[in-house]
Amino acid sequence: MEILAIETSCDETAIALVEAEGGIKNPRFKILKNLVASQIKIHRPFGGVVPNLAKREHLKNLPILFKKLTTYCSILNTDLIAVTVGPGLEPALWTGINFAKELYSKLITHNSKLKIIGVSHLEGHLYSFLLEQKRVNFKFQISNFKLFPAIALIVSGGHTILILMKDLTHYKKLGETRDDAAGEAFDKVARLLNLPYPGGPEIEKLSLSVPKGWQDTINFPRPMINQKNYDFSFSGLKTAVLYYLRDLKNSGAKINPADIAASFQMAVFETLIQKTLLAAKEYKAKSIFVSGGVAANKILKKDFQKEIKKNNLSLNLFVPKFKFCTDNATMIGVAGYLNYLKNKKHKLAAQGNLNL
Ligand code: KG4
Ligand code: ZN
Repeated sequence: MEILAIETSCDETAIALVEAEGGIKNPRFKILKNLVASQIKIHRPFGGVVPNLAKREHLKNLPILFKKLTTYCSILNTDLIAVTVGPGLEPALWTGINFAKELYSKLITHNSKLKIIGVSHLEGHLYSFLLEQKRVNFKFQISNFKLFPAIALIVSGGHTILILMKDLTHYKKLGETRDDAAGEAFDKVARLLNLPYPGGPEIEKLSLSVPKGWQDTINFPRPMINQKNYDFSFSGLKTAVLYYLRDLKNSGAKINPADIAASFQMAVFETLIQKTLLAAKEYKAKSIFVSGGVAANKILKKDFQKEIKKNNLSLNLFVPKFKFCTDNATMIGVAGYLNYLKNKKHKLAAQGNLNL
């Protein structure tokens, strides 16, 4: 099955062409094209994403990316158009949905079997473990692994969710953030440190400059870490950084942004990892799938590996390649394929608050 996927939920315009086979038991993917036009530079002066600017840029970028894709690949035999319908910024989501609908009505005249499907952005992140590392190009066979039950952690700019997956299509939310998402906390703390948007990569870079063993010199709180539930809260941690900076300034002491970045990052990661491993133990998980923009952080992956080892847990850890952690359309193609097989349909309208 050939799938053309479109993603415009936030500040990345993305189009991908994906080939899928294997059905629900053993889905495998080959990426024919994965195109992303980032709007980071445009939103950077505003310190965050401006919805109407995002919409304008998607409208500009969609035809450009589409032209680029069709220069390399023929889409005349495409079987399915998959488009993100939520959650996200509604003006931005509509640009992708309208583009997909128009494309569908043009292509259907040549290809009467063409289908169109609305996809949840969160399911895109959730299923991105199927795109892990060398496992694209049909090589990754989930039937070769004992993957389930699995615990999935989606950590992005808009969400922090812990999910129990019984198998590929049966899952339930165990918990989520009660206020800010982890990525949002990175962005806000970066702003406090006068670092540009998006803050995650900046904080990661800064914390890498701190000598080994000195990453946790400031003891920021680990919110809700000892509570026996799977919820998170990151807004208090951001406030703790704000007060720390204020007190330091008032005392006239020197501010070391790298120490603050590293200690803040450590507090976030310890919380994420501890809760995920607690769930993995309780539900006797065989795998952990980490996804979303924050999963692009190499230190998070390393810390997960360290803790799994330290706790003597036998767990497969899946963290997608960098380009499949941050927003992309390939993951929408993957989720589109699984939704199509399950006959799960989201309506083709922007749903800003679409839940898992
Ligand atoms: O998944 P994503 O691209 O968009 C959403 O669906 O939200 O995630 C974007 C978020 C931003 O908050 C960004 O700061 C964060 O992911 N992020 C990172 C890193 N790269 C991106 N956070 C921590 N470390 C990184 N290296
Ligand atoms: Zn995302």
